[in-house]
Amino acid sequence: METDFCGYDMLAAKLSSLVSGERNPLPNLSNAAALLRYSLTDISWAGFYISDAAAGELILGPFQGKPACIRIKYGRGVCGTAAAYNKAVRVDNVHEFEGHIACDAESNSEIVLPLHGAGGNVVGVLDIDSTKFSRFSEDDERGLLEFAAVLESACDWGMIS
Ligand code: SME
Repeated sequence: METDFCGYDMLAAKLSSLVSGERNPLPNLSNAAALLRYSLTDISWAGFYISDAAAGELILGPFQGKPACIRIKYGRGVCGTAAAYNKAVRVDNVHEFEGHIACDAESNSEIVLPLHGAGGNVVGVLDIDSTKFSRFSEDDERGLLEFAAVLESACDWGMIS
């Protein structure tokens, strides 16, 4: 797939422009997923899971890639671990991650970052998969934190959670 990656600062700037004037998370997350999928190299899936705190689960949100599992319990898989412990999780080899949920058998590495609402609560996660092993470095994690921060402040999370 042809991509157009000009660095994470530029990616965050493009996202800021895309979300400006819109507070609803649905269109903003949809455009963010498309931006990631068509900007980053060697990405097989990019998207979001939204917190359903009452159910203790994450539910599938806007994404780009193959169809994925719909609900993930907090604490399960890479996404549920990131949500439950409120921390970014970078996995160089998903086959060695205890409890990894294989939505796509071709995925080999993954990064998941929690997204926070205004009160600091986890409102969802950003999840990116790659068919390459060790695709995501510390630099990617830093850059994606910057990307996630744009979304956190651009959206009224109460509209969907
Ligand atoms: N691999 C994830 C599940 C979601 S898919 O990658 C889209 C996990 O272990 O939580």
